[in-house]
Amino acid sequence: MAAIERMRNSNDSISQIASVLRDQNQPLTERFRALFTLRNLGGKKAINAIAGTFSDPSALLKHELAYCLGQMQDDYAVSILTEVLEDENQEVIVRHEAGEALGAIGSLSSIKVLKKFEHNDIIELAHTCQLAIQRIRWLHGSDRHKKNLSKNPYNSIDPAPPAECQDLVKLEKMLLDESLPIYTRYRAMFSLRNMQTDEACLVLAKGFSSSDVLFRHEIAYVLGQLQNPISIKSLMEVVEKLDEDPMVRHECAEALGALGTSECTEFLAKYLSDKERIVRESCMVALDISESGDQFQYANTLSKVTSVSA
Ligand SMILES: [Fe+2]
Ligand SMILES: [Fe+2]
Repeated sequence: MAAIERMRNSNDSISQIASVLRDQNQPLTERFRALFTLRNLGGKKAINAIAGTFSDPSALLKHELAYCLGQMQDDYAVSILTEVLEDENQEVIVRHEAGEALGAIGSLSSIKVLKKFEHNDIIELAHTCQLAIQRIRWLHGSDRHKKNLSKNPYNSIDPAPPAECQDLVKLEKMLLDESLPIYTRYRAMFSLRNMQTDEACLVLAKGFSSSDVLFRHEIAYVLGQLQNPISIKSLMEVVEKLDEDPMVRHECAEALGALGTSECTEFLAKYLSDKERIVRESCMVALDISESGDQFQYANTLSKVTSVSA
């Protein structure tokens, strides 16, 4: 910890890690390692280093930049994320992740910009902003203290809290009812995830039949967190569907990488030359993560730059 503290204040290490992150000649996997290292370090310098990479051509990398800024939960990133959300030249997946990150940081000051997009024609953006607004309101309201909410067993700030209901059958109904607001359906999704059972995973996988791209991509995300082999078949089916939205296929590929069985890695290797850049790159990064075992070891750019500079 003391070493991390020293490093956090060391301009030198952060700028070395930032130069790995920014360098388009570096393998994408190294750049991801640099990003996760900066995320773990935290602080203004690390945030500035991440913010300086939003002009990159890789939508996968940029959406991960926004995701990490949200998970770092530092108000300092609000203005950066607001700019990305508003930038029509950014890919939808990147703008979505910026909106979601504003929700994760949870500052009331973000509601104004989120309201601008809550009825946007791009449905993924509209839903993202509706979710973020509701999460921020929940965070600042008294419902937050309700005791019967299930615990998130993962290290993630979710776009919605779990539902109060703990009944599998009722949660399935809520999850799959397309007439309900997206926020209600997400709350059901996170309750099901928190159950961590085979039955809940099978219900979640039914969510792939939803007509909503954003919803389907979040199903893939939670199945990736759950890492239950029972969902491998459904995740593979989505990646195989070449007409599925790349945002959903990418998230399924990452989930398979998190599962990391030999069946998954052999499958992902086949998509390293997929026609969609974001799917190819996801497979590349997913294979790299599954090879290195866990994300803590994965974020190793700090030890690399310090061993180089020592
Ligand atoms: Fe996302
Ligand atoms: Fe993603």
